[in-house]
Amino acid sequence: MKETIGYRELDARYYMPAFSREIMIERGKGSKVWDADGKEYIDCVAGIAVCSTGHCHPDVVRAICDQAHRLIHCSNLYYVPNQGELAKKIVEITGMHKAFFSNSGAESTDGALKLARVRTGKKKFVAFTHGFHGRTVGSLAVTHKPAIREPFEPLGMVKTFVEYGDVDAVRKVVDNDTAGVIVEPIQGEAGVIIPPDSFLEGIREICDKNGSLMIVDEVQTGMGRTGKWLAMQHTNVKPDIVTLAKGIASGFPMGALVAREDLEFKKSEHGSTFAGGPLACAAALATIGVIEKILPDVSRKGDRFREGLEKYSPRVRGLMIGMTIGDKCPEIQKKCAEQGVLVNCAADGNLRLVPPLVITNQEIDSVTSILRDVLG
Ligand SMILES: Cc1ncc(COP(=O)(O)O)c(C=O)c1O
Repeated sequence: MKETIGYRELDARYYMPAFSREIMIERGKGSKVWDADGKEYIDCVAGIAVCSTGHCHPDVVRAICDQAHRLIHCSNLYYVPNQGELAKKIVEITGMHKAFFSNSGAESTDGALKLARVRTGKKKFVAFTHGFHGRTVGSLAVTHKPAIREPFEPLGMVKTFVEYGDVDAVRKVVDNDTAGVIVEPIQGEAGVIIPPDSFLEGIREICDKNGSLMIVDEVQTGMGRTGKWLAMQHTNVKPDIVTLAKGIASGFPMGALVAREDLEFKKSEHGSTFAGGPLACAAALATIGVIEKILPDVSRKGDRFREGLEKYSPRVRGLMIGMTIGDKCPEIQKKCAEQGVLVNCAADGNLRLVPPLVITNQEIDSVTSILRDVLG
């Protein structure tokens, strides 16, 4: 007799239980996804700020398919189709000097830490409470949350964590053996925590004084998420290194780091088999083409969310929205899903909404109305 086994049973039997999940998402289009039972949701998670152009945007699908018919992989032993073109584009939109590609946010962090160490010749890093930079051995070392980091210590990186938002605390620990200060311009995993501009300005000044590099992690905030290509572009501060990933290629795995003039890897200092491959670059170029068209509207869409959720005092920067809910956050997330809206419970009872940048006014109004209904 043929055995039938469902996705839940397959997962339970064969997949390591590192995630907690309930819904199987089977397909998506624009800001909507459908689960295995055919139920429709407006997706305000978007693969955690990844599906920037919405699900399966036709331009991105076409670019991936066209490239897949020509060449899927060739290795960085050769010039890679689309790679130079994408590097040029990313350098232009970020206002930096040169790019290097990776396959994820964590790898971008690792690359940034390596670049800072090798170019400064210094060892120490400063990072922040509640900060998140990834889960590889290098990036985990500068990720704060003790529950996910401490079981793996020692992680081979000399680092100090100081309070996010506290410039004086940074001043006390940065010295002339500090290779870099790594900071999110808005903390995403922590639940959309927006610091004052003076915090980022203070870090810049302290880094300059000590010959340390300012590494800004824009993995979650970058690629148009906050209404500009980088969240840092809302300030007058220019970082030394910026990391990107998530929204860069609409869900095709890719990351990047960009750095200012005079900061680059030299031969053999860094590398990767897959990074910056033809498919990823094609997906990213198509993604940027779409975002160029919708970017002017992102802040206005954020304002519409702000108005609809006003009574809950949301923290809003473009389409990055956080609200402090408390212990009920998981229950709220569940109730929203029941009513056809996917939202995400980030750290410390903070509800996070990071919808596709293509979300429509009508969808925003449906989301805010359902949230008001659920939150009361
Ligand atoms: C700010 C930030 N940096 C780095 C990462 C790690 O990215 P990835 O999961 O692609 O390794 C994340 C992921 O959530 C992030 O939010």
